Amino acid sequence: MQLLFELSKEHTTLPAAEAIASMNAEELKTNIISSTEDILLVETQTNNTTINRISQRLAYSFMIDELLFSCPATMDILLRNARNHPITAKGSIAIRCKNRSKHIDSELLIDQLGDVYTKNRPVNLTKPDIELRAVITENIAYLGIKKAAINTSHFQQRRGHFRPFLSPITLHPKIARAMVNLTQVKKQQTLLDPFCGTGGILIEAGLLGVNVIGSDIEQKMIDGSRKNLDFYQIKKYHLFCMDIANIIQYAPSVDAIATDFPYARSTTTKGEKIASLYDRAFETIAHVLKKKKYAVIGVSDQEIRTIGEQYLSHVGTYAIKSHRSLTRYFVVYKNE
Ligand SMILES: C[S@@+](CC[C@H](N)C(=O)[O-])C[C@H]1O[C@@H](n2cnc3c(N)ncnc32)[C@H](O)[C@@H]1O
Repeated sequence: MQLLFELSKEHTTLPAAEAIASMNAEELKTNIISSTEDILLVETQTNNTTINRISQRLAYSFMIDELLFSCPATMDILLRNARNHPITAKGSIAIRCKNRSKHIDSELLIDQLGDVYTKNRPVNLTKPDIELRAVITENIAYLGIKKAAINTSHFQQRRGHFRPFLSPITLHPKIARAMVNLTQVKKQQTLLDPFCGTGGILIEAGLLGVNVIGSDIEQKMIDGSRKNLDFYQIKKYHLFCMDIANIIQYAPSVDAIATDFPYARSTTTKGEKIASLYDRAFETIAHVLKKKKYAVIGVSDQEIRTIGEQYLSHVGTYAIKSHRSLTRYFVVYKNE
């Protein structure tokens, strides 16, 4: 089957990378057919349970569909293809359209697809058995049947100010979740955040059933992380108040690392020169991360990436603009 991921378009490459990493984490073998800002299309063999597990991880996709067909995005070609691709499953139907093209009128399209697909079946717009989705991009149209809708509202509900312990350094939960997904960590494996701050990354990993270890040089951050993890009822965690170098003794071998490096503007480095701290941090990360596993690291400057490359292999970089025109770079490394 071909799976179509409807991407959020909040970033040009991160949503597709997150979806691919999440499929790898769930051990789904795939061939990538097409990857654009709008969609990711993959060929795979899978079932609803696996699709649901993947959908529950994602932060930057809206929907996962099973593709019926794709074709050039013109009305007549689309309708001709629709007539050649009947839906065999039984039950009521709703037709919905995500239209990102200026050349196709959504209402007219739904109307005409209705002529093709609602002949021998009832329409039910509130609780259909089958949701037919037309995803229209600038040049290509995709028609698919919804397999899973991705609920992203819970990320908003976990923003910093809804937690018992808040600090301005807190990452948005969507970004924290995408970082966790990019590590490809699996349920019951162990993820380390050695600059855990308020515990935002640990929360997102913990909610996926990952065992989490956090450390930070500030006792108030460790106390705050504990409050936050308890608030979300995350049970499998360990927290340590210590300098990053000392975590080697307490977490000598982990499956994944996701962390946001301190940046002098808003977090403490206890007087240490930032380049020296980053070098020590990368050295420690390479030491405790298992071979062939991934670390995802938030940095404020692209050049820091090269410090990491002395210890780890660079896989990808995703720039995200945050508040006050600050850009953070989320860098994925593999421990070869
Ligand atoms: C950018 S913040 C992390 C924010 C976190 N991701 C969150 O969502 O709250 C970086 C953290 O690194 C900690 N830190 C600074 N120097 C450290 C060191 N040498 N060892 C361990 N932690 C350190 C700071 O106390 C700060 O909490």
